[in-house]
Formats: sequence, C-alpha cells, structure tokens
Amino acid sequence: MRKTLITSMAMASIAFSGSAFSAWTGWNIHNQNYPITDALESFMENAEKVTDGRVGGTLYNGGVLGSQGDAIQMMQIGSIQFAGFSLGPMGTAIPEANIVSLPFIFKNVDHMHRVLDGPFGERLSDAMSKYGIMSLGWYDAGSRSFYNNAKPIVNPSDVEGMKFRVMNNELYVGMIEALGGNATPMAFNEVYQSLKTGVVDGAENNPPSYESTNHYEVAKYYSLSHHLIIPECLCVSTKAWNELSSEDQTALKVEAKKSVAMQRGLWSKREAQSRSIVEKAGVEFNEVADITAFSSAMKPVYAKAIKETPVLASYIETIQSID
Ligand code: GCU
Repeated sequence: MRKTLITSMAMASIAFSGSAFSAWTGWNIHNQNYPITDALESFMENAEKVTDGRVGGTLYNGGVLGSQGDAIQMMQIGSIQFAGFSLGPMGTAIPEANIVSLPFIFKNVDHMHRVLDGPFGERLSDAMSKYGIMSLGWYDAGSRSFYNNAKPIVNPSDVEGMKFRVMNNELYVGMIEALGGNATPMAFNEVYQSLKTGVVDGAENNPPSYESTNHYEVAKYYSLSHHLIIPECLCVSTKAWNELSSEDQTALKVEAKKSVAMQRGLWSKREAQSRSIVEKAGVEFNEVADITAFSSAMKPVYAKAIKETPVLASYIETIQSID
C-alpha cells in the first residue's frame, strides 16, 4: 500500500514565492492500480502544478487511515482534506446523501451521469457542504449486484434467509430485509474474511471491487441485479476549500473535471477486465429473472427514507424528471 508523496515542487514554491502552502492529507479505500486511485493521484499532482505548489497533498490508499466512516469524521474535524468517498456510507453522517443509495433510483449509469453532472449534482454538493464536505466531481462506481457462495440469485425469494454484508448505512439493512434476507453492516476491509469464514453468505458490489478484493475466490455466484448505482466523489473539506483563493479554486475545479473524465475512462475498461478475470477463475454470472420484481420490493425502503429525511421526496421527483 504505497502512499503518494507530493512535496518537492511545493517546498520549492514556498522558498521562492513565499506563498501559503496547504498540505492536504487524502483518504482512499482502494489500492494502487485502481481507477479512483489513479484519478485521485493525478488530481493532486496536477493541483500542485496549477497552484504553483500552494496546494500539495499526500494520498493514503487502502483504507490505512481507517474506514470510510472514520474518514468522514476526520474530514469534518479537519484532519484530512480530500478523499474519494462512496456516497453509500455517507448517508449516516449526511442524510441528504441517501438519495443515491435508494435502490434503482437511476435507470442506468448514463442516467446517473446526466443527473449528477447537471444542477442536481451541485445541489447535492451544496447540501453536503453544510456538513463540512463538498464534491468537486462525481466518479463512477458502476452498478452493484449480489454475490454469494451458495446459489445464483434469480428471484427476490432467493435472498430469503441468506445473510449479506452491506455497507455501514441502515438504509441497506432495510434493502436486504425487504427481500427477506438478513443484513450485516461491515467495513469494506473485513468482507473477505467474513465471506471466507461464513460470517456472511454473500455481499454486493461492482465487478471491479469484487475482483480487486478477491471476494470472487470465496463467493462464486454473481447475480446481475444492478440494484444500486452509487457515485463516488472527489470530495474536499469545505473549510480547506474556503481557505483557497478564488483563482486556485477555479484552477482546481478544472483539474477535478479532468480527473473525473480520466476515472470514468479507466472505470469502463476495468469493468470489462474484472469480469474477464473472474470468469476465467470460474465465476458464474447470471441475469435475474425480472428486475422489476426486485425494484417493486423496495417501496418500504423509499417510504422509510422519505419519512426520515423529507427533502428526499423532492430529490426523487427531480431525478425522475431527468430523462
Ligand atoms: C466499493 C466502493 C468503496 C466502498 C465499497 C464497499 O468498492 O468503491 O468505496 O467502500 O464498495 O462496499 O464498502
């Protein structure tokens, strides 16, 4: 787990220009050679160049600084300044973020891009910013599907009685319960061991995560339910952001856009590669019989989320009005 150190140019710039140097610390759950890792590294390298070293950073990969739940708090208290966060576990700290955790909220990944690359993405980032975290851009994490060590999931009834790991967010517990299963919220780095030792029967994630974590070695049935399409963000601390000059903010926004474009390109290639790696290792992919049987089971999940966070009702309407 290498960390990326970017200091030399920044230090030279302090010596020569006397300008303020913001040394940002960054959190990332994934390891090297993963789309979001490459994109975050590239963002920080370029940030340093375009601000003449006024912003420089160290990215800690592989979740070495802690789970995402820990990292959200660290950003809120100011001990990290940038991160590649999944919006999944973020709903616990920022209820508005739960909008993208609603199962089947997006028609597909392109629809998610159309929604988040427009005014709705800014609205969501503004809502997050009240909690000290803002998004400079939305990375891809494809769609998530179920995988387990017992059988293909074809109908919702196949989930009955099975135990699935979910990300730390009560909304996902409701999602599994709505299908008749049991859910165990757990940090990402604990899932492999839990699958291997039978603490859980299965989990759910996108193919690159399933492959990069070796979960496929211990859960061979991957069933294409595509129940969640959760974006990830190039997130920065609102406080650190507000300390920058407006010129540096503008320059970083441009770099964030480039980083997002890079990540999305890497992501689509990685999805195909991951699928082929796991298929060669004997994983069986299956389509589910009827996606609407899964989506219509989600009504109680929507009702509970709206009850807890009423603004989600208008968010849902906005998303559904975007083609
Ligand atoms: C994906 C996502 C991570 C997240 C993980 C999880 O891999 O990219 O940010 O932590 O899913 O299921 O916990």
